Amino acid sequence: MSTIRWGVVGPGEIAAGFAEAMRSVEGGEIVAVASRSIERATAFGDRFTIARRYGDYAELAADPDVDIVYVATPASRHEPDTLAFLEAGKHVLCEKPFALDAGQARRMAEQARARGLFLMEAIWSRFLPAYRMLAEAMASGRIGEPLLVEADFGMRWPVQPQHRLFNPALGGGALLDLGIYPVQLCSLVLGAPQHVVADGVIGETGVDEQIAAVLRHPGGALGVVKSAIRTVMTCTARIAGTNGSIDLPAFMHCPDALTVTTHPGGAERIDASYQGNGLQFEIAEVHRCLAEGLTESPVMPLTETIAIASTLDAIRAQVQRVPPHGSLTINDPSDERRPR
Ligand SMILES: NC(=O)c1ccc[n+]([C@@H]2O[C@H](COP(=O)([O-])OP(=O)(O)OC[C@H]3O[C@@H](n4cnc5c(N)ncnc54)[C@H](OP(=O)(O)O)[C@@H]3O)[C@@H](O)[C@H]2O)c1
Repeated sequence: MSTIRWGVVGPGEIAAGFAEAMRSVEGGEIVAVASRSIERATAFGDRFTIARRYGDYAELAADPDVDIVYVATPASRHEPDTLAFLEAGKHVLCEKPFALDAGQARRMAEQARARGLFLMEAIWSRFLPAYRMLAEAMASGRIGEPLLVEADFGMRWPVQPQHRLFNPALGGGALLDLGIYPVQLCSLVLGAPQHVVADGVIGETGVDEQIAAVLRHPGGALGVVKSAIRTVMTCTARIAGTNGSIDLPAFMHCPDALTVTTHPGGAERIDASYQGNGLQFEIAEVHRCLAEGLTESPVMPLTETIAIASTLDAIRAQVQRVPPHGSLTINDPSDERRPR
């Protein structure tokens, strides 16, 4: 494959960021855009100088001159859109959250594997300089064995029932949209959890507006994650190990530095700043994978995407609708996993 020919589906906010970032990445170009409306496809095409504009996603799937599709639709559409493009023989980069649940994520992965096509969840954080440095620092053992990952990501948005953040029909809610970032950090550092305890608050539009979860990992390490769409959080992260710690400043999903503190040794601030909006790094990784004939990125493999979706499922299953006032309730005390 020489120049990689991209199609973009769902020309909204993040698709515009993606098209902006594509200008600075070698080896690929956006050749087609599809919207549910030809007017929006045309406007996006004009803005980013994209020749082919489609008013129907199926027309993009049928375009033989498109190698890979960037799925930038709301979460509720990720499974059907990804499956449709895979079935049409396209590679796919699918926005986060990859799917509404682990079952969908598995079906998407199975389809890509069965057809030998590339598929990746667009968790752009993983490809940023700070996350590359974080992965290297963890692998080097500088802070020893990780025991605790604390991370939160929350802001206060006005309630907009139709917006993807607040609309349950679009897969809205704090957990799927923002909580995935703290959860993927726990996954990167600690792997998949073996036990999850969580709670949260469902807002007036029916989505979780605030969640908190504790993930216990094999060996005893903990992940403590929070996310919100109606509460301002620190948006930072800290990894505590047996010999030191690593701090990610706000915003923890796209930090421009990290501080590594070791004992003895002290604190070292490492610059991880970058030009542009940061999406260029994940695009470059997709180009690298396709050039090397890889169907998955080792940085964000599908097995891990499915594990992250399973963790999100386990958290969401414990976020219950409870009356705003009332007596104290606890999880089932007869649960045998509960320590006596
Ligand atoms: N990586 C990141 O930093 C980042 C940042 C923001 C969002 N995201 C993710 O990217 C995805 C899209 O987010 P966004 O902020 O770009 O959303 P957005 O601005 O609402 O754009 C989504 C696009 O999807 C299309 N769409 C298809 N069915 C739709 C429906 N039923 N309702 C609304 N839109 C529909 C629309 O385009 P047409 O109708 O024209 O086809 C719309 O422009 C989400 O999964 C989100 O979590 C990632």
